[in-house]
Parts: sequence; C-alpha cells; structure tokens
Amino acid sequence: MYEDYQKILEELKTRSHFRNLKDFERKDEKFIYYKGKKLLNLSSNNYLNFADNKAITKEFLDTDGAQFSFGSASARLLTGTLPVYNELEELLANLYQKEGALLFNSGYHANVGISSALCPKGDVIFSDKLNHASIIDGMKLSDGKFFRFPHNDMTALENLLIRERENFKNAFIISESVFSMDGDIEDLKKLVELKIKYNCNLIIDEAHAFGVFGQKGLGVAEELGIINDVDLIVGTFGKAIGSMGAFAVGSRILIDFLINKSRSFIFSTALPPINIAFTKWIIENKLPQTLQKRKKMLEIAKNFGSPSHIIPVIIGENKDTVDLCKVLFHNGYFTLPIRPPTVPIGTSRLRLSLTCEIEEAELQILKEKINEKLLAK
Ligand SMILES: Cc1ncc(COP(=O)(O)O)c(C=O)c1O
Repeated sequence: MYEDYQKILEELKTRSHFRNLKDFERKDEKFIYYKGKKLLNLSSNNYLNFADNKAITKEFLDTDGAQFSFGSASARLLTGTLPVYNELEELLANLYQKEGALLFNSGYHANVGISSALCPKGDVIFSDKLNHASIIDGMKLSDGKFFRFPHNDMTALENLLIRERENFKNAFIISESVFSMDGDIEDLKKLVELKIKYNCNLIIDEAHAFGVFGQKGLGVAEELGIINDVDLIVGTFGKAIGSMGAFAVGSRILIDFLINKSRSFIFSTALPPINIAFTKWIIENKLPQTLQKRKKMLEIAKNFGSPSHIIPVIIGENKDTVDLCKVLFHNGYFTLPIRPPTVPIGTSRLRLSLTCEIEEAELQILKEKINEKLLAK
C-alpha cells in the first residue's frame, strides 16, 4: 500500500528535495547549538530575540505569566474566550485604529481561513505569485476564482484587473508586504491605488514585517502611512514577537464575518491563555523599546543590498548552495539552503534572516565566504 509513497520519497532523495527534521541541541537568543557547535543563527524568524530568551521568559512569568494556564481546552466560540483574548484583540484594534481584530492559531490558520471565507462563488482574488503557501491553500479552498499576477508586477496586475474585474462581484487583492523568501517589499502604495481604481478589497499579510517595520512596529503599512487604506491586515506572533498565533484587523463587518465563516477559526481549539498573555505582554511592554535595534538591523541588511532583514543570496545550483552552507557551518554560522520547489529552479539560495542582536562585525567572515563562492562560479 505504501509503495507509491516510497517511490515518491526516493524520487525526492534523488533530486535532493527530501526534507528531514534536524536535531538541534539548544537555542539561546541569537545562537543555535548543532552537532556540538555554537552557531550564529541566520535561519530564524526570531527577529527581535524575544523567543529562546531566558531573561524575557523569566520576567514574563514573574510579572504576569504564572496566573495563566497552558490549555484553552476549547474553541473560541465555545468556552475558549477568556478576558485576555479580548484584551489582546482590543489592543491590536486600537494600535491599528481599526474597528476590530481577530486572533488565529497561526498565520497558516489565518490565511487559509480568510481567503476561503471571504471569497465565495462569483467573487475573485488577485494574488501575488510569490504569496505564501497558506494564502494559496486558502484560495484553493474558496469557491471563488483566483488569478496570480507576476511578483510585484503592477502593470501585469492592472492588465489583469482591466480584463477580469468586471466579470466578478466582489474582488480582493492579496499580497505579503515583506516577502518571506526574497526579502523584497511589495509596492503597497500602488496596490492601494489599484484597489481604489478597480473597486477591490486589499488584504496585506505583514507576517515578516509586524514587529520590524514602522515606528510602532506595526508593519510596512504603518511605515507608509496607509493602514487606513488596507481592508484587512494580517500579522503573526510566531516571528518577531517570539510567541505563536496570528491576527487580522479590519472593519467590524469583516471581523464578524470571519468569526462566523472562517473554518480554521471556528473548528480549532484556541491557543493557550499563557501564550495569548505572553503575546500581549511583549506587544505592550517590549515592542515599544525596540525602535533603535530594529533600525540598526535594517541598516545592516541595507549594506547587504536588501530592503528588509531577510537577505536572499542567490547561488543557483542546489549542490553549490548546500556546499556553501557547509563552509559557513564550519565558520560558525547556521544557514539553510533554500531549494526548488520552494524557489524556482536555478535560483537555489541562502535565505539569511537577521535578528536584532547581531552585530555587523559578526557577519564579516560570512561575507568573505559568500564572495569567495560567488567569484568561484
Ligand atoms: C508570509 C507568511 N504568512 C504566513 C505564514 C504562516 O505563519 P505561521 O508560521 O504563524 O503559521 C508565514 C510563515 O512563514 C509567512 O511567511
């Protein structure tokens, strides 16, 4: 019965696409311990160093955390809503100056639940081609139609809108702000212009920007002053915030619609109260103190040629990329090769993600090793 699976797994191995879990020994802020070595972790979304941080965990437990339980034992719509959930939603709605907010168990839950709920038959979604798998899965689950436009290509999007918009009732444009694999930033101002011109709703996933961009850390929409123009903003807590979960903020009617129609929200046990309380505590007490560190991190990224803290180093072939990761490992860096099908064939790369305690000097040897590899090609 499992022969077909076996065959597929063998094929994956032949093409160097087989995925397996790694046994890390320990994580400690910006470092990760692996195969007996202490390595600078350049493959983590722990952008503000709030996760794997003993001092932060202790401070939270000492001041606030110990009163909260480790299980909610119920979905939000059953008995899963304690005051702390409402307080976090209220905090987010206030920060974004939106009418409502809704928590999801993860960014994956949020995106799957949002696209599938908001786009019934007769409606349409226009989605950036490089949008995250969770957005794609949400669109596949919806009964509406979806089109994918070439990455950050506003002319192609407009041509698509001219051709298709009038064939549908409600329309949505969905994009990430900071792209998870390329670290580049979508032209959100142009998206706002197009959404107005073609009467669409705009949904922006700020998973990698929430906690990093903007004066308050709310994301790229804050930085550009366009929060008001975005109908639904999605953010996640598992990256910069160092916690788990996600949120959407928007109008009361959209939030109420998601509460009633988003299956990933309705049919899943709520996150543990202690986790919700940690997220709220970080956003209220720690995030406001990070502005300088965030600026410094983005400055370092700029010196590597990236507009965000995610730096793609495109090597090309799988083997060259894997070999470079090995060299970097021996020099004290933890990096991961990103290969097809995650990225297009021939664009295998390192995806370096900075965290805010990393000093530029710590990246000197890394820079040299990367340059050596690129020159040798
Ligand atoms: C753009 C984007 N959206 C959503 C997600 C999913 O978030 P989570 O890990 O909380 O499920 C990710 C995860 O990497 C992401 O990159």
